[in-house]
This record gives sequence, C-alpha cells and structure tokens, in this order.
Amino acid sequence: MKTDYLGAGSTHREPMTNYYCTPGRVYHGTRWMFLYGRQTLIEQVGIRPGDRVLEIGCGTGENFENIQRLLAGSGELIGIDCRPPMLQKARERMRQSGWKNVRLIDVEYGKETITRGRTDVVLFSYSLSMIPDWRMALACARSELWTGGRIGVVDFCKPVNSSKWFADWLALNRVNINEPYEQELSRLFRKTWHLRYDAWAGLWSFYVLVGIRNASAVPATPFRPFGRAWFREASRAVIVCWAPRLIQALQRYRELPPQALVPSIVNDVRAFSHQQQQDDIT
Ligand SMILES: C[S@@+](CC[C@H](N)C(=O)[O-])C[C@H]1O[C@@H](n2cnc3c(N)ncnc32)[C@H](O)[C@@H]1O
Repeated sequence: MKTDYLGAGSTHREPMTNYYCTPGRVYHGTRWMFLYGRQTLIEQVGIRPGDRVLEIGCGTGENFENIQRLLAGSGELIGIDCRPPMLQKARERMRQSGWKNVRLIDVEYGKETITRGRTDVVLFSYSLSMIPDWRMALACARSELWTGGRIGVVDFCKPVNSSKWFADWLALNRVNINEPYEQELSRLFRKTWHLRYDAWAGLWSFYVLVGIRNASAVPATPFRPFGRAWFREASRAVIVCWAPRLIQALQRYRELPPQALVPSIVNDVRAFSHQQQQDDIT
C-alpha cells in the first residue's frame, strides 16, 4: 500500500492545497449533507470483479468501500488526488481495511493519461467541477479506457430556477458549475444513464451520468485559435493543400520572362480566392 508520487510542479495544486481555508473547512465538514448520488453512481457504472477502476479526485477515499464491495477483493482500484492530506486519509482507510488492491497516485490529473487504455471504469465523484482544464481531464479519462470501458460522473449542476447563492458558495470552494460538463460528456461517450436530481427541495441540483467509450471517433470540437491544436491543424493544412500548389507555381514562374511574372502571380491569387469562394458555397 504505497503512494506513488508523479509529476511535481503544478498550477492548480497550490490553490487546491489552500482549500483548507475557513470556507473549505466548513465545506469539508458538511459535505455529507450535499454530496449526494455517489452510491447511485457506483451501482450504475457496472463495476465487476476483476475490473481496474480509476477514481479521479478520490479525496479521502469515501467511495472506496462501495467500489471494493463490487470488486470483491479482485482487480485494482487506483485513487488519484492532488492533495496529500486527502491521500493521507485515504491511505489510513486502506490500512484499516487491509485492502491490497488499492494504489494511490498523487498527481494533478488532466495533463496526461496514466493507464493508457487499460482501465475498465473511470469515476469522477464531485471532482470534475473542481478541475480548471476539465475538458482536457475528460479527454485524458477517455484515453484511460479501452473500447467498451465506462465512465461515471456525479457532480453539481446548475439548478433550473434557483438563485445564485449556491453557485457562489461553491465557487468559494473552487467548484465551478457554470460549464457544459454534461454536454461534453455526451460528445465523448455514449450515454447509458443520465439523470438530474434536485436536492433539498430544489435548493441545488446534481447529475449522475454513465457512458461507454465506443470505437467511433469523437466529433470535432471547435478549437481555440492559436492553441497547440490550431497550430498543428494550420501547419497540416499548409503542408497538405498549399505546398504542392506552391511548388507547381514556383516551377511555372521560373520559366516565365520577368515582365510576365507579376501579372501571372496576380492571376493565380485571383483564381485561388475564386476557388476558395466556390468551395465555401458548395
Ligand atoms: C469534493 S472532493 C470529492 C472526493 C471524493 N471523490 C468523494 O466523492 O468523496 C474532490 C477532490 O478532487 C480533488 N481534485 C480536484 N482537482 C483535482 C485534480 N486536477 N487532480 C486530482 N485531484 C483533484 C480534490 O483534491 C478533492 O480531494
């Protein structure tokens, strides 16, 4: 029962560690009052004996007992968290229960995959909304799973008719409910279970979503201009579409007399933009 230490130096880790400020302590001490749906999630995600289960943002390991019951002492449970005090508590829990199939990893999740397609079930239990680059974290989670592997998420969501007070209170605790998490999950996975619930007579809401990683490619997402993906796609476009045309044009220009060079270039540029417009119309 050891803790693995991966990747030091993070941007999100420090504020997360300062989370034990006053509101954080209150949040932590009272979370049993509002972290609903965790058991439902574990039941719905279909954990089987022998599975490898990855819980991202496992905290003190509150979900471990329910997961272990379904694993029946087999398979592997990997708990990931970026806050050592939480992992310390999870380690104590492991020691007390004598679990031998649990591994803890101290890492800020969302930059790279850990098991690279060798996981059966990935869980985010009230952790996705705490991860600033949550889209990247979901993309990593998808690559943890083999085709047919399942993802389960339980988290807060925006209540339909509620005031802002709960969202503001959550924001104080580094929880952001104003992002389209369910939409992105539906894009990345084939949903098999998705419900929204109201808690405390609609004071706030939470969702439980279970999905499967299927073999098909993920639909394209609009990517950030000047981000890494943008540069990759732009250079690919230049190489694939423009380079052959450019080489052809240069070969032709070499054979032209100097006085014909400028009109020929102007002509080519016009023809090219006309072609682009035609392509846009069709
Ligand atoms: C509200 S707690 C939930 C703990 C547990 N999953 C549960 O349901 O009781 C959220 C946990 O996610 C962890 N967390 C937040 N962002 C993380 C990240 N990028 N990588 C790893 N853990 C993260 C926090 O440290 C915290 O322990």
